[in-house]
Formats: sequence, structure tokens, C-alpha cells
Amino acid sequence: MKTTLENMACQFATVVVTGGSSGIGKALIQQLHRLNSSLEFCNLSRRKPDFEAEDMKLRHYGCDLGERDGPERAFREVKAGLAPGKVLLVNNSGFGSYGEFPEPELRRQLEMVDVNIRAVVALTGLFLPILRARGGAVVNVASTGAFQPTPYMATYGASKAFVLHWSLALERELAGTGVRVLASCPGPTATDFFRRAGFKERVVSPGLSQSSEQVAEATLRALAGRKSLCVCGWKNRFLVALASKLPKTWVAALSAVVLRRVRLAQLKQG
Ligand SMILES: NC(=O)c1ccc[n+]([C@@H]2O[C@H](COP(=O)([O-])OP(=O)(O)OC[C@H]3O[C@@H](n4cnc5c(N)ncnc54)[C@H](OP(=O)(O)O)[C@@H]3O)[C@@H](O)[C@H]2O)c1
Repeated sequence: MKTTLENMACQFATVVVTGGSSGIGKALIQQLHRLNSSLEFCNLSRRKPDFEAEDMKLRHYGCDLGERDGPERAFREVKAGLAPGKVLLVNNSGFGSYGEFPEPELRRQLEMVDVNIRAVVALTGLFLPILRARGGAVVNVASTGAFQPTPYMATYGASKAFVLHWSLALERELAGTGVRVLASCPGPTATDFFRRAGFKERVVSPGLSQSSEQVAEATLRALAGRKSLCVCGWKNRFLVALASKLPKTWVAALSAVVLRRVRLAQLKQG
């Protein structure tokens, strides 16, 4: 007999993932493939995934989602080769940047808005008619940072707050259409994210961090359980609940103290 997770994965014919070249996106592809080996994967990222298994149907569409026409060009290419059946769209691509705004440079902050927000809205809007016609689901990867202001990562946290609230609103609008929306909110996860964001050392203790496999599993369980929101891991759920009880101005001040300390340590190191 199939498990709940296998049943969920067997509903779909195609999974379109952004950012499957590493971290959480890669773990989602690998776990979905283990659950249903006949799934077709379309990966949208700049780098080609390096983990294709022999029996995995994985097509890579090289694209920069930060470019103005990146999402639309990728959509047109994916659509041309899309197999019949339900589609799962996973908007996972994203990055952060650590420093006093607009460090490292304004261009990078605007690129973050384009990848973390604009591409999510564009791809969801472009795929929605197909999802409505065939049935399907959208998973948007937000963050626990979406629940609070994040000084020194101000644009990143705010971009994820957008993704969280937009996803929850969309889920309500689409109720009864056969299309579901899930906002997945990982906390600190051991991927390339922190290095790429400009952190020089470990910011979060290993005890508070999850692996990309744990995040992928929590996300897929939430999808199978027909949830609209997944905060990954009980420690993150506890911290999010705590942060939600406090006034936003206090949470902003507390985060500023913690992240400023990391910044001073980094500046001392040079
Ligand atoms: N790690 C964490 O602590 C954490 C916590 C909460 C939320 N998240 C979110 O989880 C998602 C996945 O991040 P991760 O932790 O797995 O980090 P990661 O290993 O750095 O993966 C990020 C992915 O995003 C893709 N990407 C970045 N810029 C892109 C662009 N311009 N065009 C297309 N794809 C782009 C990358 O692909 P290419 O470089 O090949 O283009 C990569 O596959 C992100 O949305 C991140 O904000 C991460």
C-alpha cells in the first residue's frame, strides 16, 4: 500500500522547480523522485543540477530569474515540452544578502527583489492557467524570516514576508479551483545560502539548524497533509510563535542586536 507521501507525489505528472541546482531545491527533487520515479522534473536555475540519477527524467532550463524576461522565457520553453497531467510548481530559487543596506550594492538588493519576489509572481501567474485547467499545486519557499523584520538582512526578510502573505492570500483565492498553494518556511538550513549571503562564519548553532533533506521532507509532508503553511521543525515553530507574540518593534530591536554582533565580529576579522 502507498504511503500518504507517495500518494501525494503520484498525483503529479510534472514538477517544475526553480533552484534545483543545490540545497533545498535539490533535496526536494531527490525526495520526490524517490516517492514517484515516473515524475518528470523541469529545473530552472543558472547552474545545471549535478545529481541526475539514471532513471530520473530531469530537464534543465538554464535561466537567470533575476533578468527581466528570465521567468517568461523559461516558462515558454517549459510549456513547449510539458507532458500531460497535473503540475507541481515549486518556487524555491532565492538568496539573501547580509550587511548594512544597501551593502554589498544596490544592484544586488534589486536583484534579490527580482528573484525572491518578481520571479515567484511571474512564474505563478504564467503557470496558473495550466494549473487551473489540469489541477495542481504551488509551493513557495519563504522563510521563518518572513515573520519578523530582519535588520542587516532587511530586503531579504521583507521579500520573504511578501512571499508568505501572498501565498496565503492566493491559497484562499484559489479554494475550490483544484489548485493548492503552500508556503514553506524553513529556518536556518545547512546549504550554500549563508556563504552566498556574505556570512564568513557559522551564524546559527548546529542544534538550531536543519538539513535541506529535513526541510524538503517537512515541506512534502505539509503538501500531502493539504496544509497552506509549513514552518519547518518544532524549534522554528516555537521561535516563530514567540516572535509573533512580541511587538514587531521589539523583535526588530532584538534581531538587530544579534545580527550586529555577527557583523562586528566579521569586520574585526577583515
Ligand atoms: N538556507 C537557509 O537557511 C534558508 C532558510 C530559509 C529560507 N531559505 C530559502 O530557501 C530557498 C533555497 O535556498 P537554499 O538554502 O537551498 O540555498 P542555495 O543552496 O544557495 O540554493 C539557492 C538556489 O536558488 C537558485 N538561484 C539563486 N539565484 C538565482 C537566479 N538569479 N536565477 C535562478 N535561480 C537562482 C540557485 O541556483 P543557481 O545558482 O544555479 O542559479 C540555487 O539553486 C531560497 O529561497 C532561500 O531564501 C533558505
